[in-house]
Amino acid sequence: MNSKYKKLFEEVTFNNGVKIDTHFAMAPMVVAGSSLEGDVTEDDINYFKRRADAASMLITGAATVSEYGNAFGYGLGNYRDEQLEGLTQLATAMKSKGNKAICQIFHPGRESRVTFQQRGVAYGPSSLEFDFLEYPITGLTEEQVEEVIEQFVKAAERAMDAGFDGVEVHGANHYLIQQFFSKLSNKRNDKWGGSLEKRAAFALEITKRVKELAARRNKKDFIVGYRISPEEIHGDVVGFTLDEALYLIDQVAELGVDYIHTSLWGAEAYKSKARMGEHEGEVINQVIYELIAGRTKLIAAGDILSADAALDALNYADIVALASAVILDPEMKQKIANGQEDDINFDVTGRYEELDLPKNFPIMMLGLNKSGKIPQATFDYIKSAMPKQ
Ligand SMILES: Cc1cc2nc3c(=O)[nH]c(=O)nc-3n(C[C@H](O)[C@H](O)[C@H](O)COP(=O)(O)O)c2cc1C
Repeated sequence: MNSKYKKLFEEVTFNNGVKIDTHFAMAPMVVAGSSLEGDVTEDDINYFKRRADAASMLITGAATVSEYGNAFGYGLGNYRDEQLEGLTQLATAMKSKGNKAICQIFHPGRESRVTFQQRGVAYGPSSLEFDFLEYPITGLTEEQVEEVIEQFVKAAERAMDAGFDGVEVHGANHYLIQQFFSKLSNKRNDKWGGSLEKRAAFALEITKRVKELAARRNKKDFIVGYRISPEEIHGDVVGFTLDEALYLIDQVAELGVDYIHTSLWGAEAYKSKARMGEHEGEVINQVIYELIAGRTKLIAAGDILSADAALDALNYADIVALASAVILDPEMKQKIANGQEDDINFDVTGRYEELDLPKNFPIMMLGLNKSGKIPQATFDYIKSAMPKQ
């Protein structure tokens, strides 16, 4: 190993005492390996077996906690007990090389496109229509909000029973938890909407109850993480700023989570800068790192596609999450460990089959990193493998 990368291979200890043996995590990614109902299939198992040593902590793609939460088709489901067996097989595959397995749990809310096609309804915090959606959103009643919170807790318990080492509450990427936090999608005037504190309440209640579950089940070593998009800004349209997100992050840290995971996209995303507010122009992860001040760990993701980027990201976070990189080169971590970082290869030409990607993976290719580090040949090849409808 090139000695400058040694730091990446040091142990990390979470506040609950659990250790992982390097600073590498595998970011959550829906790879369309499941059945349309979200049941685990051979494709999911093979994908994770192939990546069981891609990082020291592997996070599943977002697993929906609700039968009303199908966003993509073929994403994971964690909403009914019949799914426990498949989830157990998945956790076993993920842990087969001794690394930790985390189940990311989410509800897509207004993004439940497949649910709308199947059932004619997509729920969100408030009944609204958006010009970027071809269907209307139905606001959850207070009773339904309670039900969804309970579904998150049940999903966390199922993950625990399946043998996962923890869960990541998915509060990022415009899904339901973020929709509650955003002024644009949350127009409620009950206890779940209005002020900043009330918009944060849904996220905090879920996280608190998942922590309580771990305590109730006497599982102090059950890892609980929280993922957040630190800003929601589209031109002049602002759902929330970093300043507002810092309030939520601070509160989540106070609940005693083991990590906070930021979700940032684009070129050098892991060091992207705040676009407005008190910290405008400052590196977002740096600001968050200083705010949490060791109370919990920080995971950075976004455009970490080289050994140097991984090392650099450690200036702003405790753990680096590989996303597009481990889809296209599951051996990235080992190559760095072996001093072969120049052999990291994102060109799938002639090697697509050996990557063990699910047959429906091409429907998710839009999420792949577009900062220019992935060769065009890879995009062309994956497009050509698109399953016929
Ligand atoms: C195919 C694909 C699926 C993704 N699915 C999820 C997901 O389920 N949950 C999530 O939090 N982020 C998801 N992401 C975002 C990644 O976790 C990561 O934050 C993003 O890809 C940026 O990192 P990268 O530039 O290294 O790819 C997905 C990304 C890709 C490429």
